[in-house]
Amino acid sequence: MNKVQRVSSLRAAVQAARKDKKTIGFVPTMGNLHEGHLELVRLAKRRAEFVVVSIYVNPTQFGKNEDLANYPSTPEEDARSLAEIGADLLFLPEQETMYPGDIDEQTVVYVPKIGDMYCGKDRPEHFYGVTTVVSRLFNMVQPDIAVFGNKDYQQIAIIRRMVEDLAYPIQIVGVDTVRSEEGLALSSRNGYLTEKQLAVAPSLQQSLRAMSDALKLKSAVVSKKALKEMEDDTKSQLRKLGFKPQYITVCRQRDLKPAKKGDTKLVILAAAQLGKARLIDNIEVELGDPS
Ligand code: PAF
Repeated sequence: MNKVQRVSSLRAAVQAARKDKKTIGFVPTMGNLHEGHLELVRLAKRRAEFVVVSIYVNPTQFGKNEDLANYPSTPEEDARSLAEIGADLLFLPEQETMYPGDIDEQTVVYVPKIGDMYCGKDRPEHFYGVTTVVSRLFNMVQPDIAVFGNKDYQQIAIIRRMVEDLAYPIQIVGVDTVRSEEGLALSSRNGYLTEKQLAVAPSLQQSLRAMSDALKLKSAVVSKKALKEMEDDTKSQLRKLGFKPQYITVCRQRDLKPAKKGDTKLVILAAAQLGKARLIDNIEVELGDPS
């Protein structure tokens, strides 16, 4: 696996692969890779013949009081794992490459509405930063497919919307969340949890499962009021366990708007603080589906 820092070297490698008629897969990451990231790369390998992985901790998607300064970084282990699973090229851009000049004067890519809800409401700058850096990376790599984790359900929905609106010729592929045996979604931020909190953290997914089972007792959403009661109950159970829930919302898969009476294809999105870690998770629910 080759490592490059400059866009000119990245482009030369991608162009050489294209000359050999290879399709280009791309996995953007912020490093500190775990099994969840490696699954994205494995999928990219199955779907494309030349796979580029980027590692860049993007400052513009962190809020002022968030963990940018302490974000975990494990560059050597990351490069080793990527080489082992057959990534072709590791792109490690520096800040000056991603944001030349004054970072506050950069063009910003903003996806309204879907980017303003849920995590966008709690962390107003977050998705601007994600869509800006991802669109810049897409222009640098110019992949045929790009792979993201479904754990960040809202992020991938926003990126799909951006790709459609800005006519990027890139197929966006989502990969199922990789979990610990207990059901905790793998995340670099799980490293902030104490041992005690790690034992409690899987309750987030368990409570979403319980909500999903309760929803499945009906063939469609009955009323917004019933959903609100269910969301509030889940929040108060999580509070008793030590979480600080930010949102637990039943929404529609297609546009992430809050579910209404009659909707059947749903996803429950959740974000909750546990100690120093902000955990997010989700579960898709299809009503009227006997499975
Ligand atoms: O999901 C992430 O790790 C980041 O948001 C991404 C897509 C690499 C952009 O910085």
